[in-house]
Amino acid sequence: MTATKGLEGIVAAASSISSIIDGVLTYRGINIDDLAENASFEEVAYLLWYGKLPNRAELNQLQQQLDEYAVIPQQVIDQIKLYPNGTNSMAALRSAVSSLALYDEEANDMSAEANQRKAIKLQAKLPTVVAAFARIREGKEPVAPKKGVSIAYNFLYMLTGEEPAEVAVKALDQALVLHADHELNASTFAARVTVATLSDIYSGVTSAIGALKGPLHGGANEAVMVMLEEIGSFDNVESYINNALANKVKIMGFGHRVYKNGDPRAKHLQHMSKELGKLKGNMDLFNMSVKIEELVTGQKGLKPNVDFYSASVYTNLGIQRDLFTPIFAISRVSGWTAHILEQYQDNRLIRPRADYVGPSNVKYVPIEDR
Ligand code: ACO
Repeated sequence: MTATKGLEGIVAAASSISSIIDGVLTYRGINIDDLAENASFEEVAYLLWYGKLPNRAELNQLQQQLDEYAVIPQQVIDQIKLYPNGTNSMAALRSAVSSLALYDEEANDMSAEANQRKAIKLQAKLPTVVAAFARIREGKEPVAPKKGVSIAYNFLYMLTGEEPAEVAVKALDQALVLHADHELNASTFAARVTVATLSDIYSGVTSAIGALKGPLHGGANEAVMVMLEEIGSFDNVESYINNALANKVKIMGFGHRVYKNGDPRAKHLQHMSKELGKLKGNMDLFNMSVKIEELVTGQKGLKPNVDFYSASVYTNLGIQRDLFTPIFAISRVSGWTAHILEQYQDNRLIRPRADYVGPSNVKYVPIEDR
């Protein structure tokens, strides 16, 4: 037995949710470009869960469920208030999502109906949790979710307490569509491994949040913003990037395990970044990002991934950089839960083997003799 480091190229599950074939990403067979241009995030979440686009009545029903479930228990709000100052935003989300299970009486109900309901509950509650955390740490009271509005609208509203601009809602909605699912990425795989033991959906999503947190996965969007802030101005881009590449420092937001000719989501975010920069009357972040792309692609052949232009998009929406990865989770929970439901439908414990490379025939030595 020889191990394949990072499971590269290993096919570990059959799935009919999303595919990456010849660099083209589809959700349930629909090209991501088509969805990014035309679909709302709610339609996409429905598509991922149920395998088809909703008709008007089905979408209305989903909206009602999202409205009903968006409120989070007061106990979870009270717990968030007790998180220490400086708590990492993804650690906060991981803890709060784990807590949500404690206040859901059907948390351990493994019927298909209860699991589907819990998927919608998680989708509805994650934005409320992230917005509540962001306000509480600034000494503000959380804002209750509004009914009858999109997840993108509600999140921005709960974050600021103000009606968001239409353009901001549209940009965030499109970003949510683009992040919703991505085949067997690390966090989705973590979710599937967890629930393949027949553990509950909250445990699966909590595992996934832990996996998304890392800078090689979802944490890269925040790391891109840290880099842009470190670079500081357009004039510093060239020396910073040349220096980083010469020292073999990884440039966050570039490269991908699966896409070697570019991430199809990146162009949409690049376009959004440019448009938001124009609207804001400040093209600095966009211009710096384009220059970084020119240098990294020119010298290393590496293309930007979904995280690279997300950083300038979210910053131009006025969102603090440590909320970028939680926003990724707000979107990806649709995909995680779709995969969890798919795993339950045809489950087998996921238990690979390891190539043992340690010593053998070692004798036990009593503690006095060590
Ligand atoms: N900057 C500089 N060099 C890079 C980068 C990068 N961002 N990414 C890969 N490389 C180089 C590696 O150093 C390695 O070079 P070598 O062969 O000379 O050692 C080669 O390209 C292959 O890279 P690996 O790290 O082996 O590729 P892997 O498939 O394991 O990793 C990953 C993919 C983790 C995305 C990697 O490209 C990376 O670390 N990127 C930066 C982090 C990032 O943006 N993550 C977000 C990914 S998208 C997402 O999860 C939402």
